[in-house]
Amino acid sequence: MYTIKTLNAISPVGLAKLPATQFEVDNDSPTPQGILVRSADLHEVPLPDSLLAIARAGAGTNNIPIDKCTAAGIVVFNTPGANANAVAELVVGALVAGSRNLPDAIAWAQNLKGSQTLAKDVEKGKKQFVGPELRGKTLGVIGLGAIGSRVANAAVALGMEVLGYDPYISIDAAWSLSRSVQHCVSLGDMLPRCDYLTVHVPYMPSTKHTINAQTLSMCKDGVRVFNFARGELVDTTAMLAALESGKAAQYFCDFPSDELLGVKGVYCTPHLGASTPESETNCAVMAATELSDYLKNGNILHS
Ligand code: MLT
Repeated sequence: MYTIKTLNAISPVGLAKLPATQFEVDNDSPTPQGILVRSADLHEVPLPDSLLAIARAGAGTNNIPIDKCTAAGIVVFNTPGANANAVAELVVGALVAGSRNLPDAIAWAQNLKGSQTLAKDVEKGKKQFVGPELRGKTLGVIGLGAIGSRVANAAVALGMEVLGYDPYISIDAAWSLSRSVQHCVSLGDMLPRCDYLTVHVPYMPSTKHTINAQTLSMCKDGVRVFNFARGELVDTTAMLAALESGKAAQYFCDFPSDELLGVKGVYCTPHLGASTPESETNCAVMAATELSDYLKNGNILHS
């Protein structure tokens, strides 16, 4: 019998992948063999000697002390692609919402309640919140994995010109994922052409501040930047300076920080990318299956 501890609410459909004849879920156990986790930060948590594997219901593993786990022989799994559709849909929604000034327009219209001059106010709002269509504009996608390639394909369907840059996958692989994307060989090749820019690389030391003062300076004035990957991929100080100077028109970020909140042109959401019932189920099923297959059979998938 293997004992599994869950550190976040994990979909019951996922937990059903751990048959009761072989697994018990006990969140108080001091000696679990497996941990299922979503966003809880394990960096400061002591890992029990009994632990053999951790499965993260999500793509990024930044909340898990990988080096410590490797040294202790604990296998770490993630669930690549399981929430890609959820994140990609949100990015597409943000592209549309940003371009058409929906967040500001909605907040503005809420304040019209009780207005005695509603028709006039509406006419004013119609002019104030004019925003460009996406069709015919250029989107740069940094990172063409499961999420980036979905965003790219959806943007092509909306009539956008899509430029893709991914230093980590071959042109052939990128091509098979996103056929209508024009592949760029460098950021320098891509950035000066983009009206919209979205980042979809994992966060690691080499990708920290992929969007920084230098890369922003290569962009068109008024570029709109979308970050639903990890906050650290964008240098916040440089981004705020770009918004202040007009180099950037908008920054959508799924990782609120105190410096960003309340700033004009910044639109933060509370890490909503993977928050759909479908994605939570997919991630939980994949994570529980990985854990079960490893503990029972020694198989390693997605570690
Ligand atoms: C991910 O890395 O895939 C997301 O952080 C998942 C989540 O929101 O839990």
